[in-house]
Amino acid sequence: MDKVSKGIDWETFHKLRGSKKRTYFTRDGNIFHVIMSQQFDRAFLDDICELATKIRGISKGNKGVAFLQSLLQGKRAMLYFVQPSTRTFLSFMAACQILGIQCSEVRDTTTSSEMKGESQEDTVRTFSSYVDLIVMRHPQTGFAERIAFLLNQISRPVPIINAGSGKDQHPTQALLDIYTLHRSFENYGGIDGKKIALVGDLLRGRTVRSLVYLLRNYEGIRFYFVAPPELQMGDDLKEYLRKQKVPFEESDTLEEVVPLVDAVYMTRIQDEYDEQGESKEIDYTKYYFKEKYLKVLPPNAIIMHPLPRRDEIPVKIDADKRAMYWRQARNGMWVRVTLIAKIFQKDKDIREY
Ligand code: NCD
Repeated sequence: MDKVSKGIDWETFHKLRGSKKRTYFTRDGNIFHVIMSQQFDRAFLDDICELATKIRGISKGNKGVAFLQSLLQGKRAMLYFVQPSTRTFLSFMAACQILGIQCSEVRDTTTSSEMKGESQEDTVRTFSSYVDLIVMRHPQTGFAERIAFLLNQISRPVPIINAGSGKDQHPTQALLDIYTLHRSFENYGGIDGKKIALVGDLLRGRTVRSLVYLLRNYEGIRFYFVAPPELQMGDDLKEYLRKQKVPFEESDTLEEVVPLVDAVYMTRIQDEYDEQGESKEIDYTKYYFKEKYLKVLPPNAIIMHPLPRRDEIPVKIDADKRAMYWRQARNGMWVRVTLIAKIFQKDKDIREY
């Protein structure tokens, strides 16, 4: 039976390992809240990939578009994005529209009752009474998790999707990254056994953190963490990988790693989290994908980036067939459609279409 947070207090819950929290995010064995990558297993990831491809196919015809739009007609979603976002916000909005869901949005809490002293928890609980789904981006680590925990205790809980929680996680980005890897390696043995370089600000980049947690579900993965020493992958994740027996190497020389890997995942420096402009001291140009690296990047390897990019990848590289970041963004919309359809248990209808 699923646990719905009754009989456990927040402090105890919050300290549980990710895998132990899984059942709190499900209902009747079905996905309900999407909070952290550790909640997903291989069967779920395989299913998301298969269903996303099916949905892409369905959406190619007018009849299919109308079918998808009928699936969740009458449902309402609240996009609660109180940290800057355009692409993830629009991607979720497009995903909702594809399924016939109407969206409302909160992007600026200075116009809300929080200014009257209301707690953020009360604000979100109030919103939850108007809608059927809340998609949430928040600067505070663990906020989405806390709201999911709180909503589990009320009589009309609505699903929460974490669309980015501070420096911690961005699970839907990681799902679309998995789908991109899946599509790219479909004819090359799948994701299992692939060597993956994660490059840049690995300490504060939530996309790479969530992706590492998901990739642990695949066999024979090897990671290369290419980052300035000050911004290397957090000890918590390295410890996690050691426990899971997933091999990783740390490097600060991208040029040496490029020829060895199947995927290079580039990221920008996350300087919005600087306390005193400390990342200005770092020579981040060492973590740019230079045009000359294209010559040593294996022919079937891919270059990924969650976007937005700064100068990590020169625009000239966009034309190379291994540059996957624009497709990655489009995949994001389809994966979000898939995820929402699964939350509302419409996957059966889609499979039978
Ligand atoms: C990322 C994020 O917000 O974490 N963007 C996104 O959602 N695609 C990456 C970033 O901001 O660098």
